[in-house]
Amino acid sequence: MKLILIGCPGAGKGTQAKVLSKRFDIAHISTGDLLREQVKAETPLGLKLKSIMESGGLVSDEIVSELLKQRITQADCEKGYILDGYPRNVSQAEGLSAIVGELDKVVVIDVPDEAIIERMSGRRSCQGCGAMYHVKFNPPKADGVCDSCGGALIQRSDDNSETVKHRLDVFHSQTAPVIDFYDKSGIVLKIDGNRPIDEVSAEIIKELEKIS
Ligand code: AP5
Ligand code: MG
Repeated sequence: MKLILIGCPGAGKGTQAKVLSKRFDIAHISTGDLLREQVKAETPLGLKLKSIMESGGLVSDEIVSELLKQRITQADCEKGYILDGYPRNVSQAEGLSAIVGELDKVVVIDVPDEAIIERMSGRRSCQGCGAMYHVKFNPPKADGVCDSCGGALIQRSDDNSETVKHRLDVFHSQTAPVIDFYDKSGIVLKIDGNRPIDEVSAEIIKELEKIS
């Protein structure tokens, strides 16, 4: 199964992709995570990416599509994958079928902008395994410590309110048109993401079970 998850910053793409990846035994590919790995490793590419990502702008199509092409050759992608954060503009969407072939579903997680600032300021992610938490909506058992691996929980450098507002603008101007791009193909599944995490997961799983 090949899926795309589309949603604004903080819509819950990463949170839901982790659940879906386990349920359907397919790989979770977050282009944001792939880019952050480069920044963390301080590769020559990572040094270029750091300021773009901290400003909340988009990285160039060429860089991101190259990372995606490399990632889907890995063994865990054989049964399929969930693309979280790609495509991010219409030009990436136009080039996608040449990279991955036919898609099964485009899942759009819809959350109003007003709910996002609170979600982002409370988000914490594990430096070790990437697990995602929220201080209020999905807290870890012990403050600042990952339930799964014991790693330290950190805040992302692009989660301050000014950058989040810019990321929301970029979403509305560049990524929302991608939903229209796929609408014609009849594979778009729109989900109300402004509900508890488990409810959102249950609805997406119920719909995907119909095609798996
Ligand atoms: P990326 O990492 O993709 O960031 P994003 O799209 O801004 O989305 P987030 O990861 O911030 O949010 P999410 O939807 O995954 O939400 P989460 O599940 O964490 O991209 C970062 C940057 O990389 C971009 O700005 C750009 O520079 C670059 N980039 C990436 N892809 C690119 C591309 N294709 N082209 C060009 N540039 C690219 O949830 C958020 C919080 O809310 C968590 O704390 C979670 O616990 C909580 N939460 C989740 N669901 C719920 C719920 N239902 N109720 C309450 N709380 C919830
Ligand atoms: Mg994410």
